Amino acid sequence: MQAILSFCIQNINSIKMTCIHCCGADKFFDLKSAQKEMKKFKRKGTRKATKKLLDLLFDKNIENKSLLDIGGGVGAIQWNFLEKGGKSTLDVDASHGYLKVAREYAKENDQEDKAKFLFGDFVDVSDEVEHHDFVTMDKVLCCYPDYKILLDNALKKCNNTIVISYPLGGLITKLVNYLPNFYMYLIRNTYRSYVHSPREIEQFIIDRGFKVVKKNISFPWHVQSYNKVAG
Ligand SMILES: C[S@@+](CC[C@H](N)C(=O)[O-])C[C@H]1O[C@@H](n2cnc3c(N)ncnc32)[C@H](O)[C@@H]1O
Repeated sequence: MQAILSFCIQNINSIKMTCIHCCGADKFFDLKSAQKEMKKFKRKGTRKATKKLLDLLFDKNIENKSLLDIGGGVGAIQWNFLEKGGKSTLDVDASHGYLKVAREYAKENDQEDKAKFLFGDFVDVSDEVEHHDFVTMDKVLCCYPDYKILLDNALKKCNNTIVISYPLGGLITKLVNYLPNFYMYLIRNTYRSYVHSPREIEQFIIDRGFKVVKKNISFPWHVQSYNKVAG
């Protein structure tokens, strides 16, 4: 009976995640690491690369605007956005653990009416997601093997500006990236991190009717904002 129950629960959980990669991400970004990161966020505040991303986001008038934060983690972008006058946030994350701690934070801070959450691989659930004024993806493209499909779905939901961070390219970054992936292989986790081509990412976004607004670096991350110009 217990085996049947556990089989059913596993399958309910994987309904919104068809990609084995995201199932691995759910295990890697587990409740324990989410709680650890939330503790750090409460003690030390927003991390450096995320602050740079927020600087680009807050170049815009966000008053009364909506934000879609894909792979929001503990929600640092969302809490800053609401604090600065944003109207609402939606966090879509493939990790049960991170969503749980982010939801708890929203409750503790009376943000439940403004901060919404959705579990799943964004590629699988994007049909359920409305358009938003702003879209953010902070260190998320590097979690996905086929970044183009993830980014394409994200761009389709963006009315105004998308701000993203992703790893600097180059051989050294790729070599450094190899170590955690080898560890994932050893512990038989299907999650891997990826160093996609920065040049291709930029061109991909431009080809979909966006233009570069600002480009920054917060080592080892590119932090960039793009405005929608067409469609
Ligand atoms: C490296 S963490 C970054 C978290 C947060 N944005 C930050 O910068 O602290 C990547 C997050 O993206 C989520 N994620 C990865 N791929 C995803 C996908 N395809 N759809 C939704 N969430 C995804 C993971 O579950 C994880 O919470």
